[in-house]
Amino acid sequence: MNKIVVLTGAGISAESGLKTFRDTGGLWEGYNVEDVATPEAWHRNPALVQEFYNQRRKNVLEAEPNAAHYALAKLEEKYDVTIITQNIDDLHERGGSTKVVHLHGLITRSQSSKNPALTYPIEGWELKMDEVCELGSPLRAHVVWFGEAVPMIETAAKICQQADIFILVGSSLAVYPAAGLVNYVPRNVTKYIIDPKIPYLSQQGHFIKIEEKAMVGVPLLVSELMSFELLNFEF
Ligand code: APR
Repeated sequence: MNKIVVLTGAGISAESGLKTFRDTGGLWEGYNVEDVATPEAWHRNPALVQEFYNQRRKNVLEAEPNAAHYALAKLEEKYDVTIITQNIDDLHERGGSTKVVHLHGLITRSQSSKNPALTYPIEGWELKMDEVCELGSPLRAHVVWFGEAVPMIETAAKICQQADIFILVGSSLAVYPAAGLVNYVPRNVTKYIIDPKIPYLSQQGHFIKIEEKAMVGVPLLVSELMSFELLNFEF
């Protein structure tokens, strides 16, 4: 089965009502990254950080997957699909995708502030300040903060190297190492980008550009890919 690798950013969840980061009115217009999304912020004012993610978790739980999430799930009927997402929402999973790699964590889970490998499901939207992990240390959102390691990046790079088709949806490619994944996709692989404002791409010429919002562009591309009579090269 041909492998499709999809790298998504906040843009794919925008039409589900979740703010992006760097668009007008985006999250980083309302908050300083240094105050809510760094280990230093957590040491300085953990309650503010917890509240920031509690509010975002509430929005995620109230949001629904959109036509783009559902269309990517449909691709699994014909292809071996892996979603690599920078998003911390669970809309890909709720939209039906079965292989999702979260580069920056998953807001519906908490993590030990002592051992990041210890993560737990969060019931409801609120993670309270007095909740602790099995080691007795305070629980924080299971999210990768600026300045922290991205544990899944090597896995994601290997997945990109195996792609037969690569699709990039809704990311400004402003944040590394996630943005660098594009360079792991072999040059001869067909690459698509779906974004109403196509960001700068180092491999500019190698992308088929679909200058649309995700809810228009992704279903369009999926219906085209579903109609392909792809030769299955089984080596
Ligand atoms: N459909 C598709 N793309 C959209 C839509 C839409 N409806 N609306 C906006 N976009 C595009 C924007 O044009 C932009 O290219 O989505 C992208 C959003 O870019 P960012 O806000 O920078 O989000 P993202 O690339 O996911 O940010 C990466 O930065 O702050 C960190 O950890 C955070 O994972 C995040 C990372």
